[in-house]
Amino acid sequence: MVDPLPHVHQLTQSWAKPYGKAAFHAGGKGSLRVDSLPSFAPPTKTASLIPRYAGVMISIWHYGVVPSPLHADVLHLLDQLPPYREDEVFSLTNSLRKDGWQPEIISQALTQARLREKAVPKFGDRASKMLFTSDALEQASRPEAAAHHARIFLDAGVQSLREIGCGIGADTTAFASAGLTVTARELDNERARLARHNLADFKNVRIDVADGLADIDEDGMWADPARRGAKGRISNPEEWMPALSSVVRAARGVKVAGIKVAPGIDHAHLPSDSRVEWLSLGRDLIEAIIWLGTGEPARVATLLDGGQLVVPGPPNGPVTMVDPAPLGEYVFEPDPAIIRSGGIALLCEKYDLAPVAPGIAYLTGNSPITSPFLDAFQVKDVLPLQEKKLARELKSRNIGSLEIKKRGVDITPETLRKRLKLSGTESATVILTPLVTGRHALLVNRLPQH
Ligand SMILES: C[S@@+](CC[C@H](N)C(=O)[O-])C[C@H]1O[C@@H](n2cnc3c(N)ncnc32)[C@H](O)[C@@H]1O
Repeated sequence: MVDPLPHVHQLTQSWAKPYGKAAFHAGGKGSLRVDSLPSFAPPTKTASLIPRYAGVMISIWHYGVVPSPLHADVLHLLDQLPPYREDEVFSLTNSLRKDGWQPEIISQALTQARLREKAVPKFGDRASKMLFTSDALEQASRPEAAAHHARIFLDAGVQSLREIGCGIGADTTAFASAGLTVTARELDNERARLARHNLADFKNVRIDVADGLADIDEDGMWADPARRGAKGRISNPEEWMPALSSVVRAARGVKVAGIKVAPGIDHAHLPSDSRVEWLSLGRDLIEAIIWLGTGEPARVATLLDGGQLVVPGPPNGPVTMVDPAPLGEYVFEPDPAIIRSGGIALLCEKYDLAPVAPGIAYLTGNSPITSPFLDAFQVKDVLPLQEKKLARELKSRNIGSLEIKKRGVDITPETLRKRLKLSGTESATVILTPLVTGRHALLVNRLPQH
């Protein structure tokens, strides 16, 4: 990083030249704010270059100093921006430049506007007041899941909570809204600052930049270890930040603890005395949580839109497998939380179903079933899984729009859909799957859920 002073010094020689030069070299990478106008800078000329700050302050562009989304100018501009539209960024940028806004402030404000827009499906209206980084938004818990976490702590009688790694504060917001007293710790200074902004309305939260694992004296503990690194997803829980084993160790010192983990986590990593919960919403598998201190060991599938299935026993124990059966009149697809929690055997027992092939999570039976845990399909036709035959059949039925579902076959639905060259006016659903008799394409009707 270059010391800003030389530029300030040069201003005394010719204030405009170095200002322009520094701005050029910064290439939109950074700003240094000078909070009072240097006496040597002619106010009238400053006024024409940066009208907003005339006589008050100037921003000197400088190498390597990255403005934060919390920079007062970014927040000020962000407040004034129209709703974000990708196709208007260019013209909007030009007009803001003409108004005298610095390129990096514009870029930061537009980045925040874009992230707020992206965050709406996750955070709804609240997104319009929050600040994000792209990574932290990706990692943030969904509010429905965060509210569920808070409810579990409340139900378990927790009042004070340590949060290890609050990111931009999605879980923290749910904990604070539920009335818990939260001490959140975050190692990343920038995220901690954003979280403080996002939680400014709450008096029952304290956010420190510190190691969350140290000095825990609250009665509850929540951890959401970072599971992405520079090279993408980290599958080994010991490489998460913090490592799963160190979080579990810390969790043993409190009354109730929850640790958010990857939903695809190998059951072997789950503590045998824990209650592990897989959460789904709208048939999307969102996350898994290792709970300690909330009840008997079990694997639990919780559908946030309604329904819970409990598989009692140590969560790292074996998953009961069910023998397959010949294809019946109906095919059912279990909710992904049921699949990951190893609850298929319980569903088969409850509804008299069996898998269509060994280890395949399509179930079959001869009665229609309405259950929050299952999507149901009536089998109309069973076709060989051969592209040409399938194309011919679909053409003869005038199918133009095709939903392709698949398990246990190495086919990419998008590629297959293109190759089938569908042009009809009807729509259909096809399930590609092994059966006990070999691989097939099942033409099915999706049955209404409730
Ligand atoms: C997955 S993010 C948390 C997201 C958060 N639950 C949310 O919903 O917004 C994990 C965070 O943990 C932080 N972190 C990792 N190790 C930590 C530690 N030992 N103490 C405090 N924070 C830590 C990381 O910097 C990262 O921001």
